[in-house]
Amino acid sequence: MILVTGSAGFIGSNFVLDWCALHDEPVLSLDKLTYAGNLENLASLQANLRHSFVQGDIGDAELVARLLSEHRPRAVINFAAESHVDRSIHGPEDFIQTNIVGTFHLLEAVRAYWGELPDAEKSAFRFLHVSTDEVYGSLAKDEPAFTETHRYEPNSPYSASKAASDHLVRAYHHTYGLPVLTTNCSNNYGPYHFPEKLIPLLIVNALAGKALPVYGDGQQIRDWLYVKDHCSAIRCVLEKGRLGEVYNVGGWNEKANLDIVHIVCDLLDELRPRAAVQPAIFNFQSSSYRSLITFVTDRPGHDRRYAIDARKIERELGWKPAETFETGIRKTVQWYLDNQGWVSNVLSGNYRQWVEKQYGE
Ligand code: NAD
Ligand code: DAU
Repeated sequence: MILVTGSAGFIGSNFVLDWCALHDEPVLSLDKLTYAGNLENLASLQANLRHSFVQGDIGDAELVARLLSEHRPRAVINFAAESHVDRSIHGPEDFIQTNIVGTFHLLEAVRAYWGELPDAEKSAFRFLHVSTDEVYGSLAKDEPAFTETHRYEPNSPYSASKAASDHLVRAYHHTYGLPVLTTNCSNNYGPYHFPEKLIPLLIVNALAGKALPVYGDGQQIRDWLYVKDHCSAIRCVLEKGRLGEVYNVGGWNEKANLDIVHIVCDLLDELRPRAAVQPAIFNFQSSSYRSLITFVTDRPGHDRRYAIDARKIERELGWKPAETFETGIRKTVQWYLDNQGWVSNVLSGNYRQWVEKQYGE
């Protein structure tokens, strides 16, 4: 079996759902269920005997040690993290605790477990750490995309904490021989994406007739990858990755934020025209969701451009994304339209407090 941490979040839940659809191998899920963790994401697995869920912290070394010795996984895939840059700017402490201290405790528990395994299991064991392109810092417009040897230059408390966790993982391989793999991926989008992040925030706000906040001039560039493609890359690295290696994962799909906003508005105009959603507010048919675009104060220290050079994973492991941005974003917008119940459950509770803190009234 495999142990997946952070499995109730956006990417972790997509990974577990896909894994259970594709494999017979059981999954043990471990998630603290912070504001970003949502068991509803895993609801379709409720009756699946090959999936079990434990609520807990990767930093709880005793709990992790017990889970490892009771379930004897052949791999640990670590998605657990505080993941939102803006939250890390308002309050970095949780990022330090989970992304650095938590990863350290997880590594210690895994090292002790791995050290006691019989030889065959020991050499088959893998610890896969899921990281981000943000550790490499920001690129100028004409600089080449990030390769795996690009120097680390994290700019936000979030990316600095992820960089620290990457270094710990690397050190555990170098010093103790722990069989680790690291992936550094670009921006994901797709189902179950928490609506504090740009793309789901746009969809949710547009449908509610609310402002679509664009930081600064909206010309910052991100490299977008459909979440299912990230999950297939992780499965590929887990199966074929060389020990101790880092693999950059991306979709060769750089877009400026304002272009993303336009694409999402245009898709919504096509799939759920505004006149049908907000007839009381707008009774003239031609009004596009684009009229909700609002430029707001920029994110402090905002990275200008990320771009991933994904040639290594393609060359060595044969991985390529299956979706283009056009197919992936259409599926994503449709998923949000089809899953309004999931959206309204997420929007209740402390989500509202976050929106007020970040965007004001
Ligand atoms: P997310 O915030 O949606 O989910 C994180 C999950 O981790 C949540 O379910 C949360 O409850 C859980 N968690 C938080 N602290 C924990 C702890 N101490 N112990 C156990 N569980 C804990 O994040 P995501 O977008 O799914 O990202 C998953 C991973 O992928 C993160 O490590 C992130 O850095 C990385 N990543 C994300 C992206 C992206 O675009 N979202 C891109 C590249 C890499
Ligand atoms: O690059 C990978 C990273 O992508 C992951 O490591 C992070 O976990 C993930 O959150 C994401 O970080 P970003 O900061 O790039 O994602 P976010 O969706 O928050 O923002 C995307 C871009 O959109 C960024 O340039 C900021 C901008 N933005 C964001 C929000 C929430 C806006 O213009 N307005 C907004 O309201």
